[in-house]
Amino acid sequence: MKTTSVSGAALAAASLFSSFAAAVQPLTVNGANFITKSSGNRFSIPGGSSGVSQTSDPLSDGQACLRDAILMQRLGVNTIRVYNLIADLNHDECASIFNAAGIYMILDVNNGFQDSYLDRTAPWTTYTNAYLTHVFSVIEAFAPYPNLLGFFSGNEVINEQSAVNAPAYIRAVTRDMKDYIAKNVDRDIGVGYSAADVADLLSPTWEYLGCELANSTSSKIDFFGLNDYEWCGDATYQSSGYNMLVEQFGNTSIPVFFSEYGCNLVKPRTFTNVPVLYGEEMSVMSGGLVYEWTEGENDYGLVNITSADEVHLREDYGYLATEYSKLDQNLLTSANSTATGQKPPTCDPDLITGNFWSSWDLPARPSGVDALISSGISSANKGKTVSVSSTAMPASVYDYNGQQINDLELTVLAEQDSNRPGLAGNYTPSTPTGTAAATGSSSTGASSSATRSSSGKASSTASQSAATSSGAAAPMVVSSGAATFGAFLASLLFL
Ligand SMILES: *[C@@H]1O[C@H](CO)[C@@H](O)[C@H](O)[C@H]1NC(C)=O
Ligand SMILES: *[C@@H]1O[C@H](CO)[C@@H](O)[C@H](O)[C@H]1NC(C)=O
Ligand SMILES: *[C@@H]1O[C@H](CO)[C@@H](O)[C@H](O)[C@H]1NC(C)=O
Ligand SMILES: *[C@@H]1O[C@H](CO)[C@@H](O)[C@H](O)[C@H]1NC(C)=O
Repeated sequence: MKTTSVSGAALAAASLFSSFAAAVQPLTVNGANFITKSSGNRFSIPGGSSGVSQTSDPLSDGQACLRDAILMQRLGVNTIRVYNLIADLNHDECASIFNAAGIYMILDVNNGFQDSYLDRTAPWTTYTNAYLTHVFSVIEAFAPYPNLLGFFSGNEVINEQSAVNAPAYIRAVTRDMKDYIAKNVDRDIGVGYSAADVADLLSPTWEYLGCELANSTSSKIDFFGLNDYEWCGDATYQSSGYNMLVEQFGNTSIPVFFSEYGCNLVKPRTFTNVPVLYGEEMSVMSGGLVYEWTEGENDYGLVNITSADEVHLREDYGYLATEYSKLDQNLLTSANSTATGQKPPTCDPDLITGNFWSSWDLPARPSGVDALISSGISSANKGKTVSVSSTAMPASVYDYNGQQINDLELTVLAEQDSNRPGLAGNYTPSTPTGTAAATGSSSTGASSSATRSSSGKASSTASQSAATSSGAAAPMVVSSGAATFGAFLASLLFL
């Protein structure tokens, strides 16, 4: 909805030693579900959002990230979505803080700068070597973080204004990203697309991007996000149109979730949609990311950041926390064998509903891009996890009634845990599953990267069984298949 927002999803678990940021467990995509590799549990996304700054990359300011991560962890968020990232900046502190908080990140590779996005009205003018160099640099910058859940290759590129063949360019960018990851990154990282809230375009976009193309298998998206603002105030499953989504995506072969949600036509936002979104009726979906973290002109914020060291929780934050706290974690973490077994349909014009592009003759790579993929970006700025030593809230925080909230701090989670509502308040690490050595030595941080490389690429059938054989602190891996985001999707918004 907002091109300046940043979103990311994070599910992170850290070692028992708070000075070490351990890796979170990797997620795989198994059919239509996101799955935590080590346990085989489904992962749904509960989300919140975080706004950091209007003019800078939100994951480059460690103090702001610590402040936001503490408040998101307390809320129960397991994933943030972040937009407007700048590949050359240092993101180590922020990524490590969210990792320690048990929060995954879903990142948009595009931003508004020159050579950093596809022009929806004339994508062929911006699908260039310079653009793909930007995209690959973002991949290099974030791939090393274990709590990276995945990337969006595009956000709302397809809308009423877009060129008719824009969908083919999105598949091409997805292909290039996945080929780059396969060649240059030592684990699988999912690449998805985030669709605009335009009813007519939703089904065909998902059909076009999510089908199997024999001559370009890597151009298929791994997950589908939709920006959805149709539930306002006290709507219902039927009146909101959520029932139609369940019908539409009932047989999805890839995870589908709200990449933004939270209508604000009725204020305050009481989030009565949350129990429905995470309830049995909508189990085909993998959660959603609330738009957005920081209050700004368009009035969607969960928190009002009045200065770098002063935050006021809005009424909406409290309503969301209440709804999150009631969620049925058992339901959210149950994998569904029908959903995980869904196979993508073969791309075919008959698959596409409505008036939409239905040719899969994808644009060829711009000159020089094959070489970029085979050799990797030279002297890329690659992130690395760092220890999180400071956990105290660096800002003054006030509740909705103006009361100051004291003693807030980051709870560093063990690597087998991702954040969920109520976890951080009185934290005891859960029993590790699989071979994960969460109770092991303080070298968890180091082992995470080793595991990451050894856990490698999950095959499409690997998700659940492979999980138990992966080592400690494996990152989320997206294989093909249906995985459920069994956690919350929180969106960080940024004004
Ligand atoms: C899902 O698949 C079943 C079995 O093939 C079919 O009967 C049903 O119509 C499909 N639903 C949708 C929404 O495509
Ligand atoms: C957020 O804080 C600013 C600065 O104090 C204030 O002007 C604004 O009204 C606040 N917004 C909301 C929605 O509380
Ligand atoms: C399992 O997934 C299928 C779709 O793949 C869905 O129709 C069914 O309702 C789901 N079952 C449960 C218990 O959520
Ligand atoms: C790949 O397959 C699609 C669909 O069959 C076709 O339209 C396209 O021309 C093929 N591309 C190449 C490079 O052969």
